[in-house]
Amino acid sequence: MKIIVTGSLGHISQHLTQQLVQQGHTVTVISSSADRREAIEALGATAAIGSVADGAFLASTFAGADVVYGMVPPAYYIDPAIEPMAFYRSTATAYTQAIRQAGVKRVIHLSSFGAELDHGTGFILGSHQAEAILNELTEVDITHIRPTSFYYNLLGFIGQIKHTGRIAANYGADDVIPMVAPVDIAAAIADEIGLPAEYRKVRYVSSDEPTGHEVAAQLGASIGMPDLQWALISDEETLAGLTTAGTPAHLAEGLVELYGALHSGRLQTDYNRNKPALGRVKIGDFAADFAAAYNRS
Ligand SMILES: NC(=O)c1ccc[n+]([C@@H]2O[C@H](COP(=O)([O-])OP(=O)(O)OC[C@H]3O[C@@H](n4cnc5c(N)ncnc54)[C@H](OP(=O)(O)O)[C@@H]3O)[C@@H](O)[C@H]2O)c1
Repeated sequence: MKIIVTGSLGHISQHLTQQLVQQGHTVTVISSSADRREAIEALGATAAIGSVADGAFLASTFAGADVVYGMVPPAYYIDPAIEPMAFYRSTATAYTQAIRQAGVKRVIHLSSFGAELDHGTGFILGSHQAEAILNELTEVDITHIRPTSFYYNLLGFIGQIKHTGRIAANYGADDVIPMVAPVDIAAAIADEIGLPAEYRKVRYVSSDEPTGHEVAAQLGASIGMPDLQWALISDEETLAGLTTAGTPAHLAEGLVELYGALHSGRLQTDYNRNKPALGRVKIGDFAADFAAAYNRS
């Protein structure tokens, strides 16, 4: 099959590209950076250099594709001037128009757990809106991949651990936190592409379900802090901590809302009703990556 992979050689797409090439597919990888061309070609894929915001570029790149894997990059983390919801909507709209124009019949969309909810979920509201925009493609089969919380989000606690000796947030502690590794998401997407297309499908992906205390114990053991604790604090304290650490106000507010939905359990209600088989990377495996990043910082 001819498959378009967005997300460059990012966390998910590098693994996905490797797997799809190994399976014998013809893969084109979209990157915004010409510097990535060589690395993409080294994986046996073709590079298409351009932005997912550029509808004309997307339509010409999608021409003749059997499947498009479409993700919305977290551009708003890199450039705080980008408004997250507007970016999700404009990217999903660019994908939708290009898919229609190119006549692509199958889409795998990277969404998120909680994407069925229409308020109170922070940035995940962007995935809710992106699903709705893509679903306007009435002639196209769409799988919405809904991963849980990425392990690499935990890297955001490194500064806090170094400064305060603990993890503290308005979620965690006794809460079960469904978490996922990008390599397990990539495996699920590659598997999905091999299955018969369905008109509309939601597929959850998760790797492990530790509590916050279990996360703290695993991460603490990996960095020589076996007594590391995860403390539950208020929304206001979490917002103040994020702001003090330099997170722009609108991003900090989105994170606090998202965390609050995790703590209440609202974010994972539909996930809990439709649990997938868990992937292979466990929190103890991620702890080694965490320790490497902790020791580098
Ligand atoms: N964090 C979570 O817990 C969570 C949970 C559920 C869903 N998600 C979803 O997962 C996404 C992240 O997936 P990921 O970790 O695989 O992504 P990633 O590695 O953070 O980013 C993928 C790549 O996209 C490319 N890119 C950025 N802006 C671009 C643009 N304008 N046009 C074309 N390419 C662009 C960049 O590579 P180049 O520099 O080569 O262009 C970047 O490395 C989030 O955006 C969110 O939608 C996240």
